[in-house]
Amino acid sequence: MKEILEILKEAGSEIVPFRWEDDAFYLLDQRKLPWKETWLLCKTWEDTFSGIKDMAVRGAPAIGITAAFGMVLGAREVEKKGEDAFSELLSIAKSLKEARPTAVNLKWAVDRVLGALKGVFAEGLYERALKEALSIWKEDCRANILMGRYGGKLLPQEGGVLTHCNAGALATGGYGTALGVIRGGISLGKKIKVFSDETRPWLQGSRLTCWELLRDGISVTLNVDSASGLLMKRGLIQAAVVGADRIASNGDVANKIGTYNVAVLCKENGIPFYVAAPSSTFDKDASSGDEIPIEERDEREVLYFSEKNMAPQGVKAYNPVFDITPSRLITAIITEKGVLEPPYEKAISSKIFGTSH
Ligand code: MRU
Repeated sequence: MKEILEILKEAGSEIVPFRWEDDAFYLLDQRKLPWKETWLLCKTWEDTFSGIKDMAVRGAPAIGITAAFGMVLGAREVEKKGEDAFSELLSIAKSLKEARPTAVNLKWAVDRVLGALKGVFAEGLYERALKEALSIWKEDCRANILMGRYGGKLLPQEGGVLTHCNAGALATGGYGTALGVIRGGISLGKKIKVFSDETRPWLQGSRLTCWELLRDGISVTLNVDSASGLLMKRGLIQAAVVGADRIASNGDVANKIGTYNVAVLCKENGIPFYVAAPSSTFDKDASSGDEIPIEERDEREVLYFSEKNMAPQGVKAYNPVFDITPSRLITAIITEKGVLEPPYEKAISSKIFGTSH
């Protein structure tokens, strides 16, 4: 943990969504931001499961790392029991993977810890799981910083950059993907004016993106989601950069609902649309966006705001929380392995999966 914080400090952002301290895992409760900074102690793997499902922690890489620590807590429990440890770990892994369906990083991180535990004797499970979870966290931070370096170069020397949802330090191990690219551009001395879509209905853009950018001294202007077209038309936006929850092998991207709208508007207005994501967000098993499951959440998230109904009683709401942006709308995908450009199928298979197409 100390080494991770040092890496982040050197990169210029010390914000983290979780902590591992004195053999305990804590989540920064993002539902309470920007009002309060509350740290939730996760005593069991079930606590990490609820933290992910109920959105105390969110963002694809962050929920993956949280689930990896869920495996650590699970390993600590089963280690005490001794017998049949691995089959119990398999069942914990299965449950953790079901916490949220769209972000593939969740499955990736859980499987990685599970893989590291294969053949480990019961008494060594906890220590081995912890080593792997900390490695996943550290690698994610390093990947984000690299993406910041590659992606920062793509941003305009001066001008407006629009982002959607929160793909920042709070959504990752630290530094962020899309916000990492913005941080990277700023550290190159670029004069970037950040615009943040507020991102209905959870307001990740307003509550979280604005909170973390201001905390790092980066100024940001908030706009309602539906203002982005006008901002583009008025020449206020020179690039858009977003994160991803899952990228299919043809380059289609699942990300927060409304991302597709931004991409279409960018196309219409001749503005580059970038996606930033680590290789753990790519799904070899999904050949296109059609194969990516889209999470649908409770209609109350749309109908109510802070316990107050915002629609007449009796009306129904439909609440898909991610959408698919077809690869043809994406100018480039920024990864820690380099910047991918169309044709994506070829670039992804060679640079990400390491296979020839
Ligand atoms: O529902 P959320 O808040 O988990 O959705 C988060 C996003 O859509 C992010 O853009 C995505 O996970 C990338 S985070 C680096």
